[in-house]
Amino acid sequence: MYSIKVYDPVADKIEIGAVIKEMALLANEPKRHPVLAETGLYVFWGATVYVYFDEDDVPLSMNCTKFGKRKKNVWEPYGNWYGAYTLPAHRRMGYAYRLYAEVERDLVKAGCRRIKSLAGSSAGLGLHRALRHQCWGLTAENEVFVDSVLPGHEGKYTGLTPPQAPGNLMTSKEVDFFIKKGLRYDHGK
Ligand SMILES: CC(C)(COP(=O)(O)OP(=O)(O)OC[C@H]1O[C@@H](n2cnc3c(N)ncnc32)[C@H](O)[C@@H]1OP(=O)(O)O)[C@@H](O)C(=O)NCCC(=O)NCCS
Repeated sequence: MYSIKVYDPVADKIEIGAVIKEMALLANEPKRHPVLAETGLYVFWGATVYVYFDEDDVPLSMNCTKFGKRKKNVWEPYGNWYGAYTLPAHRRMGYAYRLYAEVERDLVKAGCRRIKSLAGSSAGLGLHRALRHQCWGLTAENEVFVDSVLPGHEGKYTGLTPPQAPGNLMTSKEVDFFIKKGLRYDHGK
């Protein structure tokens, strides 16, 4: 039976380091993927780490998301999705999608209204597309700016553009174009 474990950025820092190290070893990539390399930073920024383990307790997929608390305007609190990673041999099996469903359920419970992220790869943007997240243009770092409503808050934002969005709401054709073209991580940055 698979399991999902949720790691607190403060109390479980050491365990998170151990899981990420294990995933990097299992991934066996020539260079540690930037998402794995940057996990320490995401945790430092306050991200909770969700890990999907198989029945043998092998970590297959992870998601780092910060549960925002600030509520200064109608857009907040935000969930800030910093990174997602699935072991190369286990991709396109629905692990990242299922893990996010768990994250989303907890974000809603915690009172978050929106989720935002910077999609830095074709696969990452494909995942956001599958989750029907809204995208708002390209950043200077060649990432797609994702900012989307969470369940329970639909209808509050019709006709509004999220703060800091670098562009307008992207059409599905535009999203498809960037999935084909590739983004920051696909070009080795
Ligand atoms: C992005 C990533 C986490 C997706 O993990 P995954 O477990 O393979 O994703 P899932 O199997 O849950 O995919 C769910 C859906 O997302 C979309 N998707 C996933 N990978 C995709 C890809 N390479 N291209 C286009 N769409 C993709 C598909 O719609 C997919 O459903 P389908 O397989 O039925 O078509 C994984 O590819 C990864 O670790 N990549 C390297 C790290 C990375 O780029 N992270 C994102 C940085 S922003």
